[in-house]
Amino acid sequence: MSTSNQNNRVLSGMRPTGQLHLGHYHGVLKNWLQLQHQYECFFFAADWHALTTHYSDSGKIEDSAWDMVVDWLAAGVNPNSAKIFIQSQVPEHAELHLLLSMITPLAWLERVPSFKDQQLNLKERDLSTYGFLGYPLLQSADILIYKAGIVPVGADQVAHVELTREVARRFNYTYGREEGFEDNAILAMKKMGKKQSKMYQQLRTRYQEQGEQEALEMAQSLLNDQQNITNIDRERLFGYLEGSGKIILPEPQSLLTKASKMPGLDGQKMSKSYNNTISLRDSTDDIETKIKKMPTDPARVRLTDPGNPDKCPVWQLHEVYSDESVCSWVTNGCKEAKIGCLECKQPIVDAVIEELTPIQERANEYDANKNLVKKILKEGQEAASDVASDTLKEVRQAIGISYK
Ligand code: TRP
Ligand code: SF4
Repeated sequence: MSTSNQNNRVLSGMRPTGQLHLGHYHGVLKNWLQLQHQYECFFFAADWHALTTHYSDSGKIEDSAWDMVVDWLAAGVNPNSAKIFIQSQVPEHAELHLLLSMITPLAWLERVPSFKDQQLNLKERDLSTYGFLGYPLLQSADILIYKAGIVPVGADQVAHVELTREVARRFNYTYGREEGFEDNAILAMKKMGKKQSKMYQQLRTRYQEQGEQEALEMAQSLLNDQQNITNIDRERLFGYLEGSGKIILPEPQSLLTKASKMPGLDGQKMSKSYNNTISLRDSTDDIETKIKKMPTDPARVRLTDPGNPDKCPVWQLHEVYSDESVCSWVTNGCKEAKIGCLECKQPIVDAVIEELTPIQERANEYDANKNLVKKILKEGQEAASDVASDTLKEVRQAIGISYK
């Protein structure tokens, strides 16, 4: 696998197409909160991706993006550790998308499963557009422009990261083969100094002759640690190590976000398309009403009818929110008809309200201070642009259109 010195960089995006709900919070955001402490993180609102499906009702995208960013911040994404920005504010993504489109075979895009699935699922929209076909390639550009090593995504997005790896490989193969590559690599090696260069060579031999994965990884981290070689030389040495050309765009890995255990109000997975969500912005009353309306085990018609929590979506929420003693109170009370369903739901109402109240309070503060949100996004955009424009320079140079 091709890695780079940026392989610890995390990148992920979310499309601003509607309100965030508890499924997003438990499935995606909590994961981001952890990652932001461990890695350099870039999180962005993928407004162009929203446009690929919502081009004819684009009017809501901007408001959704503001709300989404506020929800991220309110949930605890910390702009001091993670860079937050809006995709269309970093137009470098679009240039890389264009350049990658030159080398991407149509068949690669047509066979991405989400292409056909979404065309079938969203029948009311005409998705036989150029932009929609390019959806996963735009995502590849999002990832590769930051040379991100780690892309936290749900299972439905893994195919897009896979495509990204193929596109990166093809790019490096097509444009990493400069004339005199081997000589340049050897020169680069010498710049590391005698000792380091000898170590690199030994590790390279161990990897190429014995296939030792460990030697590859050691050599990669040795390259990452070199202060006195340029990025271009480093790319040469990464490529030389693996027997390919220069590695300009390193291949990312997907970090599979564990399937959100968050059940919706009907027991299916919580999702906007099932209309079974609790939004992060729902009022206390809405939360209470929604939970009180939840269906329960149909066997419990009267209070005296015993039920079975395994047949009840409310129980699934107890598994998320309730401690052992509440859970055993539910199980006994339900099976022995000692508690009513409304009574059983109350601890969940309380827990959801307790979870969302501080988030909503923070969201209100950010909503009342749009300038602060703008400032956070501007700082995020600047940091993102710095990295993105460096990558683009290298890309233009590798292709041979840098006009210097
Ligand atoms: N396609 C992703 C989704 O629908 C959003 C996205 C766009 C993304 N660009 C990305 C995710 C880059 C990870 C990395 O969820
Ligand atoms: Fe569901 Fe609780 Fe009613 Fe049992 S008592 S059916 S678990 S809501």
